[in-house]
Amino acid sequence: MESINNILFSPSSILVALVTVALLINKAWPRVTRSKQNNKVAGHTSDPTSTQPLSVSKETEIPEGWMTDSAIFELERRGLFSQTWIYLAHSAQFTKPGMYQSFDMAGFPVFVIRGKDGKIRAFHNVCRHRAYTITRKETGASTVLGCRYHGWSYDTTGRLVKAPQFDNVPGFEKSQNSLFEIHAHTTQQGLVFVNLNAEEPSPLDDEAMSKLNGFSVASGLQPGSVWVAGQTLSADFNWKMGMKPSILEPFTTELKSNLPEAFGRSTVKDAVRRIFQSNPLHESYHFPTTLFHYFVDTKFWFALSFFPASESKTHIRYDIFSHSSVGQVETNAISAALENASDRLKREIENDYHSMTNGQGLPAEFENQDTREALRRISEHRRLEKMQGSQIYPAMRKPKGSNLFQQAEKVCSELDCVSGGSKNGNSSTVLDW
Ligand code: FES
Repeated sequence: MESINNILFSPSSILVALVTVALLINKAWPRVTRSKQNNKVAGHTSDPTSTQPLSVSKETEIPEGWMTDSAIFELERRGLFSQTWIYLAHSAQFTKPGMYQSFDMAGFPVFVIRGKDGKIRAFHNVCRHRAYTITRKETGASTVLGCRYHGWSYDTTGRLVKAPQFDNVPGFEKSQNSLFEIHAHTTQQGLVFVNLNAEEPSPLDDEAMSKLNGFSVASGLQPGSVWVAGQTLSADFNWKMGMKPSILEPFTTELKSNLPEAFGRSTVKDAVRRIFQSNPLHESYHFPTTLFHYFVDTKFWFALSFFPASESKTHIRYDIFSHSSVGQVETNAISAALENASDRLKREIENDYHSMTNGQGLPAEFENQDTREALRRISEHRRLEKMQGSQIYPAMRKPKGSNLFQQAEKVCSELDCVSGGSKNGNSSTVLDW
């Protein structure tokens, strides 16, 4: 035993042990350093299915590039906007059969329409022939939806009713070429929500519904509400800027401070001014895009949505409604007030976004419950993609129908043999999102 101790604790053995430990540490150190560097850039990676973690900062859970990274935006499209109930409109915007409204929601062109049967439906705004846009105006009314390109037309239920030159094509069946319908749900109060998931989505969750019910009772929101005015503005900022708690401040400040100049002095305009200036504004947020508001003790409520167009562009959509009809002068006054307020809101958010992306960083107020919920959902989706080893597109649609026709049409579209070329060279009717 003594001889073993002599060997183990001899100066040369201790020296050998120290050198070995030093070598091991030296070998491990570069790995630690690389790992930290990789984590630091993970938020900017262009491969969202890479094995890098999404959360990268020690100080915050929010990934770098949260408001600017195109890879994060693509992940939001797949993990959030392809499988979440999104508020789009109110039934008051579709008072007659055929009335429709088009939206660009996270790059998904969709439209909502009231059918001849009175039901409100939503569809991908994409022709089943060569993916051309069906409703090219933002709002309109038609009970026959014709595609301008080769003349296919659909009814208000999305059914293909006319397909010139295709009636005698072997394997072609109109019933297999209806518009791709999107899950739509109209609440008892007339709020229209859509969910792009190609599979059956879970219903709107109870918490969201009870929040909306509470808001509806307090505001008097109802299916018989009257649409007064609305507008879509294109803005240069990331849609998640709408998750800032005090987002409405510029809007209300504008409404409350500048109305006298905007309205002049008629009795009706004074009444409208009093509505906006004297009554407190109450709100309810529907994750992830929309704020509902009402002016206490008035007949007005409105919806303000931030629909993403890209990682740095957003469509701001606002609509104001009333519980009873509104005269033209009053409507004009409200429209003007909202236009000014929305314009100010847009400019102020654009300035904030510009400052944020030019070195100021993300203000702490964005670390809120809604941001955490968005992050949780896309992180979960990313986890599933990593498990599967590829990206998952919940909204993806594939055409059904005869293989013979699909093959023939593929050849035909490659030759562009029907009548004229395709819109953008993409002849596929598979929506690969
Ligand atoms: S008819 Fe719509 S793209 Fe051909």
